Amino acid sequence: MVCYHAGMKHVMVAPSILAVWDRTNGDYAACVTAAQAVEKAGADWLHVDVMDGQYVPAKTFGPEMVEKLKGAVKLPLDIHLMVNAPERVIADYIAAGADRVVFHPSASDDVGGCLQKLVETGVVAGLAIDADENVLLLAPWVDVVQQVLVMTVKAGAGGQGLRDDLLAKVAGVRALVGKDVPLVVDGGVKVDNAARVVSAGADVLVAGSAVFNAPDVGAVIGQLRV
Ligand code: DX5
Ligand code: ZN
Repeated sequence: MVCYHAGMKHVMVAPSILAVWDRTNGDYAACVTAAQAVEKAGADWLHVDVMDGQYVPAKTFGPEMVEKLKGAVKLPLDIHLMVNAPERVIADYIAAGADRVVFHPSASDDVGGCLQKLVETGVVAGLAIDADENVLLLAPWVDVVQQVLVMTVKAGAGGQGLRDDLLAKVAGVRALVGKDVPLVVDGGVKVDNAARVVSAGADVLVAGSAVFNAPDVGAVIGQLRV
């Protein structure tokens, strides 16, 4: 998953389409166009933030966004479910074309069932830890989980500032899940803090506002891969 060239770690960048959704007040066509632009600019994955207005106060979009993006780009679609009871909706995201799905174990009474459904259908099965949650929430699932996302802001909104104090959790997660599980860091990642996030152990950087609010998305994607 993580590539090394001449000893340098190749960090992956996953732009978050939430920044475009927010900026355009929910314009699907603008999101599709922006997704195509970051694909062309060399993004590795596209991060898609689903919020249900319950697990987090804000509400974004549902599986229809995934369907539209699936038809428009070849980028792996990395779906971040910030929803209560993901077991009720996970099949809809699989059917819509998700390549990777990350959900919050604190939102589910059936974490094992959700992970199993993803694994069975060939979708990468991931878990997310919110800003003030303990990494030990992952402990029961270390043998099954295929991706972990560590929030460096409180889940629920783009454009917040990264909390440096949360970076220590990345190393804790690495120790818990082993070296082969990709670690994604999400929230407030910018060109000027990317090096710190990568040193903390991130394999994949999610970046919404840093990428999509920049005049040259390709330049920012390149600069994030420090
Ligand atoms: C926040 C989302 C993030 C968000 C990141 O709850 O999970 O993925 O889009 O946006 P920035 O990079 O602007 O913090
Ligand atoms: Zn996210």
